[in-house]
Amino acid sequence: MIWYPYEQMKTMRAPYKIVNAEGVYLYTEDQKLIDSVSSWWSVIHGYKHPEINQAIEMQLKKFAHVMLGGLTHEPAEKLSQKLQSWLPGDLDYCFFSDSGSVAVEVALKMALQYYVNHKETHRTMVLALEHAYHGDTFKAMEAGDDEDYHFVLKAYGKSKDVVHIPTEIDALEHAFAKYHDRLNCFIVEPLLQGAGGMKMYDISFLKRARELCDQYDVLLVFDEVATGFGRTGNRFAADLVLPDILVLGKALTGGYIGHAVTVANRKVYEGFYDDAPFHALMHGPTFMGNALACSAALKSIELFEEQDYMSKIHRIEAITRREMEGFSDRRIKEVRIMGGCVCIEVYDSDTIKGYQQFAYKRGVFSRPFLKYLYAMVPYVIEEGELIKVLQTMKEWFSKKY
Ligand SMILES: Cc1ncc(COP(=O)(O)O)c(C=O)c1O
Repeated sequence: MIWYPYEQMKTMRAPYKIVNAEGVYLYTEDQKLIDSVSSWWSVIHGYKHPEINQAIEMQLKKFAHVMLGGLTHEPAEKLSQKLQSWLPGDLDYCFFSDSGSVAVEVALKMALQYYVNHKETHRTMVLALEHAYHGDTFKAMEAGDDEDYHFVLKAYGKSKDVVHIPTEIDALEHAFAKYHDRLNCFIVEPLLQGAGGMKMYDISFLKRARELCDQYDVLLVFDEVATGFGRTGNRFAADLVLPDILVLGKALTGGYIGHAVTVANRKVYEGFYDDAPFHALMHGPTFMGNALACSAALKSIELFEEQDYMSKIHRIEAITRREMEGFSDRRIKEVRIMGGCVCIEVYDSDTIKGYQQFAYKRGVFSRPFLKYLYAMVPYVIEEGELIKVLQTMKEWFSKKY
């Protein structure tokens, strides 16, 4: 049987069974639902996109997968070339992996080994943010700061190697003053912290982080697994402030196939590039550079560019702001909007219990968590469909208790 994610199997409600998916719609046997979650924020072009389907089918006729150990192939080469030219600055060196969590592990390992290779073995610490979420593998959990997901780590006691700070410049400066000579990196979800509660913060924090990382020679890592490909209203936060290592996943393949990439700049890459074999990056997920995933990613990026997805995202934000303007309720703590993300934070998680079923009946799929009712829609959504998603959220609060 299936062991479902983030669920107490004894008490969980039966999941909705999807029999088809097309555009922004999920189909069960008896309902047509707008997917307001984009399958965990990844399906930016909607489901069953004819051109992505075709790109995968064409590659499938050649081969589905070969390993990158001692072999290479055109889809992986082309994708790395595309990312090299498309990403800002000298973020040119692409290490592929099969999921966002693994790509975060690779980034954290890269940052540690970068200093080990430079004989700075005392730099074992990672600076991270409060409410951070970087995935569910062990080091990613440690860099994360969300007990709701990672309470099991408490069994080990408090980590000496990770320090969490709030998104406040004072705290940032204080942390650098105190730990700078022991830090190898500062990892952040830039501008928008997703699974930690759709928390949004200002670019000035990241600009100051860049300055401090330069001043103290600490690597800046942007985990853009969730924020990348336009979700914050910027193509990448890395377009605004340049990190040393950038992690992408989720929408990389248009949400088609699990794949991710850890992209290093020249400085990081050169920290590994020499004659000593033990200075190599000893990592190699079996499915890294999967040919179907790379073909989907190439087509996804092509669509993103050719069809001016940034203007679609700006339109989603404008409609969302218009529809949510003046909306409030005594049970709501805050309504937050950034790019293609809207979040209603309530005071009490009980307030949004039952919302999923309520939305289902109205033709919307939603998956609120804790105190957060949110939407991160596919970018191809029509105005009427987006309004329906937002109206459904608002309608819930017009219910009497
Ligand atoms: C910011 C961030 N990093 C990493 C991950 C982990 O990605 P994956 O679920 O593909 O392992 C997620 C997943 O939600 C994420 O939001």
